[in-house]
Amino acid sequence: MEKTLIIIKPDGVQRRLIGLILSRFERKGLQLAAAKLMHISESLARRHYAVHEGKSFFDGVTKYLSSSPSLVMVWAGPGAIQICRKLMGKTFGCEAEPGTIRGDFGCSRGYNLVHGSDSPESAAYEISLYFTPEEILTYPITDEPWVFSNNQ
Ligand code: RTP
Ligand code: MG
Repeated sequence: MEKTLIIIKPDGVQRRLIGLILSRFERKGLQLAAAKLMHISESLARRHYAVHEGKSFFDGVTKYLSSSPSLVMVWAGPGAIQICRKLMGKTFGCEAEPGTIRGDFGCSRGYNLVHGSDSPESAAYEISLYFTPEEILTYPITDEPWVFSNNQ
């Protein structure tokens, strides 16, 4: 089953939007495989966003991610990575479509509520930064045949 790393970033936690954001992934039919509330350190944030090292926004985004606690999760399901990216919307709320998480809950050009892995490679790397293999749960979920009928 494909897995993706999703983070409700510090602004999402501070603004008490955890429940509303989390429900978007739940009601889509994805399966929660791991979750922890944690204050991400600046060094972990720099490893998380290592692909952006050297870009103008690197220091800002790593300070943002490490500024206050985040809810870090693994969600699973066929096509979970791209499904989650679509649920999140474009990078900044001011440009994201209504109906998406970023489009519905934010309009900042600095804070954007959620992170989601953008490829299988980045998902594997990012999940390994936050979770041990034992912390990622695999369990039967009763509605799976109804939710994922005909998916690979
Ligand atoms: P994320 O990695 O957090 O899911 O966001 P994303 O794929 O939509 O955007 P990405 O290009 O990977 O950028 C990572 C984070 O850096 C901040 N950013 N700032 N000022 C800027 O031009 C700029 N561009 C990106 C955002 O916080 C973005 O989520
Ligand atoms: Mg990204």
